[in-house]
Amino acid sequence: MSGSLAGRRVLVSAGGTREPIDAVRFVGNRSSGRMGVALAEEARRREARVTLIASNLAVPAPEGVEVVEAPTAADVEREATARAGADVVIMAAAVADYRPVETEDAKRPKDEKRWQIELEPTVDVLRALGEGQRNGRLLVGFAAETGENGLERARQKLVAKKLDLIVYNDVSKRDIGFDAAENEVVIMSANGERRIDKAPKEEIAAAILDEVERLI
Ligand code: CTP
Repeated sequence: MSGSLAGRRVLVSAGGTREPIDAVRFVGNRSSGRMGVALAEEARRREARVTLIASNLAVPAPEGVEVVEAPTAADVEREATARAGADVVIMAAAVADYRPVETEDAKRPKDEKRWQIELEPTVDVLRALGEGQRNGRLLVGFAAETGENGLERARQKLVAKKLDLIVYNDVSKRDIGFDAAENEVVIMSANGERRIDKAPKEEIAAAILDEVERLI
């Protein structure tokens, strides 16, 4: 198969970042990396040259793709920015929106007092990539939403972050999305919206890349 992804450089971020609090503790999320790994694998099957920016994956990275470890949001920012010249960038990772202001090198010993941890915002890598030089690069984001206005918020993110595609998923349902084998998404672009009913993440990945190939 030699479709429009053959020979293209595709950058995928997958997993969930962990923002250290001290030597052993972190602020994290439930992302397993399955969706991003499925995207990387499907892109490679379509003969793309794939780099996977991997944040604490709970599943193995696919064969035949370059893997760059990026445990924290700052690592994702650095590694994604360094490779922003790719033809397609897909940000599937759950990158932390906040990180602890202070990180202790040693493990904090227990005492009887309360422990308040102050968080500061991280850089929104996807937004930064949308605002930077595009040179024909296709930019795909995810919108992890909960609640009734989720679809509308995803539509707004598509425009606000200057994306070509956004993949909406409702992360309030435990059987799909975060840390699940299946997902149910709406793929949105300026051309319209396509709902993909609950399916294995491999099928969702194929549907997303079909849409990418249409736009390329
Ligand atoms: N993302 C990113 N850098 C961050 C946070 C998120 O690049 N620091 C990317 C994610 O990889 C995803 C998209 O932004 O593709 C959307 O993340 P999400 O958490 O759903 O939305 P936010 O835009 O952060 O908005 P909010 O949390 O307010 O819903």
